[in-house]
Amino acid sequence: MKRKILISALILSIAGSGCTTSKSEWHSYSGDKTIEHKVDSVLSLMTLEEKIGQMTQFSSHGDITGPIVNEDIEPYLKKGLIGSIFNAVTVEGIRKLQEQALAESRLKIPVLFGYDVVHGFKTIFPIPLAESCSWDLYQIKKSAAIAAEEASAAGIAWTFAPMIDIVRDARWGRVMEGAGEDTYLGALIAEAKVKGFQGNHWKDLYNTNTILACAKHFCAYGAAESGRDYNTVDVSDRTLREVYFPPFKAAKDAGVATFMTAFNEISGIPCTASKYLFRDVLKDEWQFNGFVVTDYTAINELVPHGVAQDEEQAAELAVNAGVDMDMTGGVYLHNLKTLVEEGKVSENTIDNAVRRILEMKFILGLFDDPYRYLDEKREKETILKPEFLQAAREIGNRSIVLLKNNNQFFPITKDRQLTVALIGPMVKNRTSMNGEWSARGNKNESASLFDGLTEKYKNTNIKFLYAEGCDLKEPGTEGFAEAINIARKADIIIAAMGEDYNWSGEAASRSNIKLPGSQQKLLKELKKTGKPIGLVLMNGRPLDLSWEDKNIDAIMEAWYLGTMAGHSIADVIVGDYNPSAKLTMSFPRNAGQLPIYYNRKNTGRPLPEDNPKMDYRSSYLDVENSPLYPFGYGLSYTTFQYSKPSISSGILTKNGELKVSVTITNTGNYDGEEIVQLYIQDVTASVTRPIKELKGFQKLNIKKGESVTADFIIREKDLGFLRLDNTWGTEPGEYKVFVGNDSENVQELKFSLVE
Ligand code: NOJ
Repeated sequence: MKRKILISALILSIAGSGCTTSKSEWHSYSGDKTIEHKVDSVLSLMTLEEKIGQMTQFSSHGDITGPIVNEDIEPYLKKGLIGSIFNAVTVEGIRKLQEQALAESRLKIPVLFGYDVVHGFKTIFPIPLAESCSWDLYQIKKSAAIAAEEASAAGIAWTFAPMIDIVRDARWGRVMEGAGEDTYLGALIAEAKVKGFQGNHWKDLYNTNTILACAKHFCAYGAAESGRDYNTVDVSDRTLREVYFPPFKAAKDAGVATFMTAFNEISGIPCTASKYLFRDVLKDEWQFNGFVVTDYTAINELVPHGVAQDEEQAAELAVNAGVDMDMTGGVYLHNLKTLVEEGKVSENTIDNAVRRILEMKFILGLFDDPYRYLDEKREKETILKPEFLQAAREIGNRSIVLLKNNNQFFPITKDRQLTVALIGPMVKNRTSMNGEWSARGNKNESASLFDGLTEKYKNTNIKFLYAEGCDLKEPGTEGFAEAINIARKADIIIAAMGEDYNWSGEAASRSNIKLPGSQQKLLKELKKTGKPIGLVLMNGRPLDLSWEDKNIDAIMEAWYLGTMAGHSIADVIVGDYNPSAKLTMSFPRNAGQLPIYYNRKNTGRPLPEDNPKMDYRSSYLDVENSPLYPFGYGLSYTTFQYSKPSISSGILTKNGELKVSVTITNTGNYDGEEIVQLYIQDVTASVTRPIKELKGFQKLNIKKGESVTADFIIREKDLGFLRLDNTWGTEPGEYKVFVGNDSENVQELKFSLVE
C-alpha cells in the first residue's frame, strides 16, 4: 500500500511537466488522453537505460522453450531494467519478483508478468485444434475467459496466446495450437479468443480477471517448408494477405494488446527483422497500437539466419523493424544504448516502443497498484472451480469428431449387456491428456479414458477388461499376447491409441504421420479376432488413417481434451452427448499429399470430377488427390438430410445481398447438432482463385424428426480478394455457391456479381 502511494505521488509530481520526446509515431492504444498523459509523464523521467529495460523480457524459470539464457536477472530487476518476466506462475513467486523490482529501482515501474496460457491455466481445455472442431465461438470465447480468470488469479497479466497461424501441413507439430486450415473460421476464432482473454473493450483489461492477449506468430509460421519446425517460409504477398494475415487482422480489430514475431523467414526476411510486417503492415496499415514482443531469442537468431553479423546488428534490425520487446535474448539490453549513441537507432524509436509497453501497464492498472492481481485467497478459490471443470468437459464433448461409425458401433448405451476389451496405450494414460502447453495443469490428475468409462458405466451390465498392448511410441510386441487374449474374451474392442503429448507441439514435427510405434500392428492383430473394433484416438495432428479407415469399424478423433478428457469422451461413447464436431484440418491419405487443404487452386490441368485418374493431369500415380477426411467433415449418431438449396436471385449487385436457404431434417434417432457450411468460388478473375472458400456456417440444434432452415446472406464485401493490380476488392462475373455438410459433400448454386 505504501508503495502504491509512492508511485502515484511520483506520477502526480511529474504530470504536466511535459514530455520532450517526439510523439510522431505514437498512436495510443486506448485513445484515452489521461493514460497518454501519464505515459508521457513517466517516459519523461526515464533514462535511456531504463527505457531499454522496459523493452526487455526475461524468463524466471520452468517451461523454457529454447536455449537457457544464463543471465542472473536479479541485478537488472533491482535497477528497473526489466519490463517483463515470464514463466513466474504463482502469486507468491510473482509477489517476490515484483517486490524486488519495486524496492530498489529508481522509478518503481511495475513489471508485467506473462505466461503461455494457451488452452487453460490450471483447468486444461481441449487443445486449440480440437476446440476449433467445435466451430462453437461462444464456447471458444468462454474457455479463454476461464483461462484468463485462473491465470490472473495466479498473478499473471499477459498470455502468449492465441496462436492463430493458418496450418495446412500435419507434419508440423504446432498444428495442435491453431484453429486449422481455414482463414475465415480462423479469423472468427481469433476474435473469440482475444475477447475471451481480454474482454470486449480495452477498459475490461482493468478488471483483474482479464489478461492481455498476444496474437502469434506474425507471420506464416505454419507454412514452414516440409512441415519442419522453424523452417524457411516462402509465400507470396498475395497468399500472406489472403490466407495468413486475416486472423491477425481480426485479432487486431478485436483489440488484441500484443503481437509476437515468428521464428521463420518469409521470402528471405526473418520475420523478427521485417519492417514490412511490423512497421508497414501492422503499425501503419492496420494502425495497431499495442506492442510487439519477439518470440523466444528470435532477435539473437537473426545471426544464424544470416542477416546480422552479430547481436548488435540483430538488435538494430529488429528495433527498426518495429519490434518493441525482446523475449529472453538480452539483445536489446546489451546493445540498444550503443546503437542509439552511434545514431543507428533513434531515441524516438525507443520512446515509441516504451510508450506502447507503459500504456499496457497503465491500462492493466499496475501503476495504481502493482499488487492488484496478487491475492492468495482469490488464487486458491479460483482455480479448478467445479464450473470450470464442467465447461472443460462440455467443450471436450463438442471437440470430438466421429470419423467413421459402421453399424452404429457408437454409442454404447448403458442398457446393453456387453464385455468390452479396452486395449491400447491411451486407455489409462493421463499424462498425455493435457497436450502441449498445459500451463499449470496437473498431468497426473487429468481424467483418462479408463477413469471416464469406469465412472460412466458404474452399476451397468457393461463390463471392462483391460490390456495396454503396446507402448505409445516404442516398437515392441511383448504386450500383444495379453491384449489378444483379452480381446477374445470380449464382445467388442475399444482401442485407445494416439501420440504421446510431446509428439506434437513445438519442435515436434514428424515425417511419418501414422500411429507411432507398434500401435497399427496391434490393431492388425486385434482385427484378426473378428471382434468389432472402435478406435478412439488421442493425438495433436491429423494422422494418416488410411489403413484404419479401411479396416476398423468406428473411429473417434478425441484429440487431447485436457483435465476432463476421459469424462468428455465417455459422455460421447455412451451417447449422453451426440458428436457434432467437424474437422478444421483435412486428414490426408498419406504424408506425401501434404500440405493438403480444401481451398486449393484448380491448376491448368485439374482432374475431371468423373475421372479421378487420368494422364497428364495434376494428380498422383499412387494415391487420389482428395483427402481421406475433408475439411468440415464429421459424423453424428443421427442422420441429417439436406433439401435442395435455393438462392433469392441469380444476380448480386454491388450494394445488394442474396439469401441462400437450405432446410435440414434430422432423419435419425437422436437429437443432434449439425454444422451447415456455405462455400463460394469466384469462377474467373484477374488472378486464380481457390476452388472453394468457406464464407459462412451455422451450428444448428435439430431435434429428431425436426426440420430447420438455415439462411445465409451473401454480400459483395464477402467476395473480396487481392486483385491483379494489388487492390482489395471484387470483380464482376460468375460465382458458384456450395452448401453442404463438409467441404466436399455439397450442392451447387450460381449467381453473377454485376457492377
Ligand atoms: C516459443 C514459442 O514459439 C512461443 O509460442 C511461446 O510463446 C514462447 N516460446 C514462450 O514460451
